[in-house]
Amino acid sequence: MYQTSKFILLCLMLVVSLLQLGTATAGESAGGININNGQTIFNEGKGDAAACQGCHGEKALGNDAMGAPRLANIGQAYIIKQLTEFAADKRTPAGAGAAMNGFAKALNEQDRRDLAGFLNTLDYEIDPSDLKGLATDGNKVGDPKLGKIIVTQGVKGKVPACQDCHGFNARDPRFPAINQQKFVYLVNQLNSWRDDSRANDPMVANVGIMRGIAKKLSDDDIVNIAAFLSTAPRISPEGEIMPALKKN
Ligand code: HEC
Ligand code: HEC
Repeated sequence: MYQTSKFILLCLMLVVSLLQLGTATAGESAGGININNGQTIFNEGKGDAAACQGCHGEKALGNDAMGAPRLANIGQAYIIKQLTEFAADKRTPAGAGAAMNGFAKALNEQDRRDLAGFLNTLDYEIDPSDLKGLATDGNKVGDPKLGKIIVTQGVKGKVPACQDCHGFNARDPRFPAINQQKFVYLVNQLNSWRDDSRANDPMVANVGIMRGIAKKLSDDDIVNIAAFLSTAPRISPEGEIMPALKKN
């Protein structure tokens, strides 16, 4: 059983990498990406799409108070997929994020590619969530050490290690980067997959990948994972702490 799921996982990784080969890489304009247009929309908005920086932050590093995710360097193909699915109402967030469906509809395909291209050219900056402040505000923040175990090793026979797909320290260009993502956003997503209110993850053998995984996580697992991911330093595969990077 475990072997089978490992196999499915490898197939999926291959499919996703092939899909990504079809998209232009960072900073490229020959692939039809206009970084300047992406930057202008991010800073100023376009028609019914409000300025992205208003919620996602000037440097696109996210905002816990609003439940807004980091968008900088989380994955170019992934951003295009999400904007396309917001526009098609295939992903319909609750709360402040509910505005995303209308914003995405106001963008055309080219705008979505340009925004994703722009977000991928930003400097790689680390901006950890303020777990102490979140706890003071009444949030349950969890234990990063316990979260690290699930992210790097999984729970035997129950939950695969998140880094199997998301990459070492949960960062891999083929899957969305979840490391240095914001705490509140991570908790919201894992809860939404668990209760099926977010259901736009790829399916393998008739099961949504992230929905299947989230259903095996307890409330404590979710806050522990989010506490680790939202504060973890960048770590090399050799376990060395790395400085913030320019791009990736
Ligand atoms: C009013 C605040 C607000 C504005 C303005 C806004 N967003 Fe969002 N956005 C959110 C929130 C909140 C979420 C999280 C939704 C959820 O919980 O699923 C989100 C989610 C997203 C996501 C999904 C990211 C992921 O990791 O899956 C993308 C992509 C995105 N926004 C892009 C944009 C772009 C591009 C713009 C500008 C055109 C924009 N947003 C403007 C609040 C906003
Ligand atoms: C089998 C591969 C796989 C494994 C293992 C996996 N993920 Fe995912 N994850 C994905 C895929 C694919 C997506 C993109 C979903 C989409 O397209 O909307 C994703 C998306 C996410 C996102 C959304 C990121 C965003 O910006 O909205 C989060 C958070 C996440 N995963 C957390 C986890 C955690 C935590 C674990 C470990 C408990 C984990 N994942 C294990 C494949 C995986």
